[in-house]
Amino acid sequence: MPDLLHIVRGCSFDDFLFTPQYSVIERRDPTAIDLSCRLSEHLTLKRPIVSANMDTITRAEMAIAIAEEGGIGIIDRGFRSGDIDPQVREVERVKRRQHGIIADPYTISPAAELSEAREVMRRTGVGTLVVVDHARRVSGLLTARDLRFVGNEGTVADRMTPRDRLIVREGVIDSVAAEVVMRTHKIKKLPLIDQEGRLIGLVTAKDLLKQERLPFATRDEQGRLRVGAAIGAKGDYLERASELLRAGADVIVIDIAHGHSAVMGRAIDAFRKQFGAIELIAGNVATPAGTEFLIDRGVNGVKVGIGPGGGCTTRLNTNFGVAQVEALVSCRTAAGRKVPLIADGGIKRDGALVQALLFGGDTVMLGSVLAGTFETPGDTVQKPVVIPESHKTVKVPFKVFRGMASLQAIVDRLDVEDSESADVEALGAEGMEISVPARGSVRPIVRDMLKHLCSAISYGGAGSLEELREMFAKDPQRYVVRLSESGRRESFDR
Ligand code: XMP
Repeated sequence: MPDLLHIVRGCSFDDFLFTPQYSVIERRDPTAIDLSCRLSEHLTLKRPIVSANMDTITRAEMAIAIAEEGGIGIIDRGFRSGDIDPQVREVERVKRRQHGIIADPYTISPAAELSEAREVMRRTGVGTLVVVDHARRVSGLLTARDLRFVGNEGTVADRMTPRDRLIVREGVIDSVAAEVVMRTHKIKKLPLIDQEGRLIGLVTAKDLLKQERLPFATRDEQGRLRVGAAIGAKGDYLERASELLRAGADVIVIDIAHGHSAVMGRAIDAFRKQFGAIELIAGNVATPAGTEFLIDRGVNGVKVGIGPGGGCTTRLNTNFGVAQVEALVSCRTAAGRKVPLIADGGIKRDGALVQALLFGGDTVMLGSVLAGTFETPGDTVQKPVVIPESHKTVKVPFKVFRGMASLQAIVDRLDVEDSESADVEALGAEGMEISVPARGSVRPIVRDMLKHLCSAISYGGAGSLEELREMFAKDPQRYVVRLSESGRRESFDR
């Protein structure tokens, strides 16, 4: 796209409008319009949304919501160096949230005391334990209801529903067949066993219902939600990757501020040596050379964006970066169609989403537009705000949003020894921290975004996201109009 490259040089989202085309769509409905896309070479999504690996955006709750809505969340690595467990736990929480077949359900021995069963249920948040003997043969099921109104005296065997009163199924089963068994026998839990009666899985009615209600959710082969996890390129990164993969992370993202670097090259080589063909995304880059550098080293996806992020001050502080539309077009030209790109950063309004997807992104990574939602980590604090009209002060709930290279985020990541010796006034921060009003759930925000994307596909004269991409790539000049200053104001200043 050499002509397009020329048009977009130095430009970002607010510099362009797209010309409307003859529409062929009857309903602008995300349940009817195909929005599927590629996250990386071997992973597809039904919605092109990725939540950013930032410590004020994506932990388990956000990753669950985004995966249920058809995208994927990347759990941030903003935990202290060497402190791998907390990130692993977030991945585990996502993987355990929803299942087709639970391959490794929580179990307990029939001889265990009831207090122990209560403790396992409390710790795991799971209300059903499969009771197995020393050879992992199923002896019964124990649910939270079996423990209601009883003290701690006695053992699991006293309260469980024993094996001879359970419906079990030998071998693996798909969700349709499981539903038939559950409906026929009016049961909510179906343990799966092998020929020797050993536990090989559990199907629950709750999970089956959820699968039906969320047909676009991003799931793995076992029906569990997919989740990604970020690592760095130094220190504990390989050990971290190993633990995250063991916990079930579907993709690892090596995420550093400047991905076109010797440090990144070494990290990818070491990762490939240790983990072979595991799905790997790396970034960030914003140039053709940076994109080729990562692809030549064998990554399965590239994250594009140097400095467009809402919490980011890299361009202010270093004067380096590439305007995001130019970055997307030039990186797409370098990548061809084999390796997908994530357009990371700078999406402030829904209309920029379709721009990011047409100029080069296969998916978009979102940070600040999701900030303040209920699913973001961090506490809500009440802050006094003066209402201009009445001069009255009211308390408004706020949450923190911060760049991962902000002073506060860096200090939080430092280990205790470092923080004593480091000069915390001069850490070379390239991000900032702001308070954003606390909002409701992220789900309506994402759904609205997807509705607007469907409308954009309709205006673009296509029937699906992929078709719009193809039409755009064939003849970008049919769509792209560079705005004058007054055109920009008329379009986006509200
Ligand atoms: P938005 O615009 O959606 O962008 O908030 C999210 C992306 O911003 C990047 N990011 C940073 N970039 N300094 C930076 O230069 C930072 O402190 C920082 N924190 C986040 C990151 O790529 C994220 O996905």
